[in-house]
Amino acid sequence: MKQKWWKEAVVYKVYWRSFYDTDGDGYGDINGVIQKLDYIKKLGVDVIWLNPVYKSPDKDNGYDISDYRAIMDKAGTMEDWERLLEEVHNRDMKLIMDLVVNHTSDQHNWFQESRSSEDNRKRDWYIWRDPKPDGGPPNNWRSYFTPSTWEYDEKTGQYYFHSFAIEQPDLNWRNPEVREAIFDMMKFWLDKGIDGFRMDVINLLAKIEGFPDAEKPEKINYLGNNPGIHQYLQEMNEKVLRHYDIMTVGEIPFVTPEDGLKYVGEDRGELDTLFHFQVADDMPEWDMVQFKDIQKKWFEGIFGKGWNSQFLNNHDHTRKVTRYGNDKAYREESAKLLATMVHTLPGTPYIFQGEEIGMTGVDFDSIKDYQDIAMKNKYREEVDKGRDPEEVLEELKPLSRDNSRTPVQWDASENAGFTDGEPWIAVNPNYKEINVEKALDEPHSIYYYYQKLIALRKENDVMIYGDYEDLSEGDERLYMYTRNLEEHSWLIVLNHSDENQELTLPNESINAELKISNYEDVPEKASNLQTTLRPHEARIYSYIK
Ligand code: NOJ
Repeated sequence: MKQKWWKEAVVYKVYWRSFYDTDGDGYGDINGVIQKLDYIKKLGVDVIWLNPVYKSPDKDNGYDISDYRAIMDKAGTMEDWERLLEEVHNRDMKLIMDLVVNHTSDQHNWFQESRSSEDNRKRDWYIWRDPKPDGGPPNNWRSYFTPSTWEYDEKTGQYYFHSFAIEQPDLNWRNPEVREAIFDMMKFWLDKGIDGFRMDVINLLAKIEGFPDAEKPEKINYLGNNPGIHQYLQEMNEKVLRHYDIMTVGEIPFVTPEDGLKYVGEDRGELDTLFHFQVADDMPEWDMVQFKDIQKKWFEGIFGKGWNSQFLNNHDHTRKVTRYGNDKAYREESAKLLATMVHTLPGTPYIFQGEEIGMTGVDFDSIKDYQDIAMKNKYREEVDKGRDPEEVLEELKPLSRDNSRTPVQWDASENAGFTDGEPWIAVNPNYKEINVEKALDEPHSIYYYYQKLIALRKENDVMIYGDYEDLSEGDERLYMYTRNLEEHSWLIVLNHSDENQELTLPNESINAELKISNYEDVPEKASNLQTTLRPHEARIYSYIK
């Protein structure tokens, strides 16, 4: 298997608006990221993924871009950004940027021109269709954020297509001029010296020819993985990506391992690695058996041929210790267990800011406290059907994207030390208990556990390139698996439950050396194969085969 820096790396995702505010406007900013770079570096991570900082009316927190070559005022200036890149590089880390090219903002000049008339030269840069004979939308598809993918535009009497909000029209990738404009823009950033891209919903670029009605419109998987997508990515690779030493990670919803390999196969000339959503989208609550099945299928599907990524939360998915673990009695143990898993399963691990101190989801009282356009739109849609607003709110809370978007809790001072102003979204009220200052003061904190896990990855190739075997298939609480590389074996044992669990370790692990554990009193050697794992206990053992 080819060795690559991005396979060996640990990536830290910075959602800058909630990271650290230096100018008191209530939004985090680029200068805030710069000020906290030593904090990120101390964790041991190699790569920072910065979510979109480009000019944007900010309807979808920067994922609606109105100018790809400028920086949003809230985030700072281009000079700030250039300093950020330099400071990241000075610390021997790398910076990858979000690439959002399935859609732009409706305020982008391209769209302004496109919508101005049917014969405008940029008309075909977006997707326009006539109404159905009854005046309705061209087909019955749902978008991610609204009941229809089509929005009627009075000016020219046609509908335009949007996979997300109305303010996020999709680009027409069939048009070669669009592709060239995007490739040019990518070179603009790569030539500034960035180290790669996280590619937003990159498998949505190609649309189904003719836009036929869907049998099940609520199942929006018709939006992605359509014929033509691989040609676009191969062209992008040929014209842009392959000319730089970078990493690319595609956000690829609705993908199975078999199709995933088409995006990241080492012989395909497309992307390096991907985020699939079989956990984040298909497992609203923890299901150990399903999770193991997903891991096994991905391992069998792509190991040795392509590269996976591991994550359990990000700015779109509720904090992992709340969604999948126990954020109450066993918050510390549970956060450490989940981290052990993410950092020892095959693929590059991703940390979402705040995860390293065990930040939790939120439970705001009113829909007014929530900011997420996906949640707000869905709330409106359901309430407009006549449903009870309270009931709708309760239903939407657990998976609201705002669970992950509350400000990083730096200390116990007002607003968790995030801002001197009014934060754009309320701080989680538990910041006096859970904050960075406290984590850095406690030698056994979640933070230092992450630091140790990351250091282990640096010293042990087996954690990166080793194979994977599940020894606990079917067990709903225990997860035991090995990673093997040449003569090195690692055994990972996890008790993902609130009760003690008895466990028999495999024979060959007798006297294995304990590498890390989230309980303090575990013997240094596995001298007894019969063992009991306490609630949310995690251990990694190593032995020579
Ligand atoms: C995925 C991004 O992560 C999410 O935040 C955004 O709303 C959509 N893509 C649309 O760009």
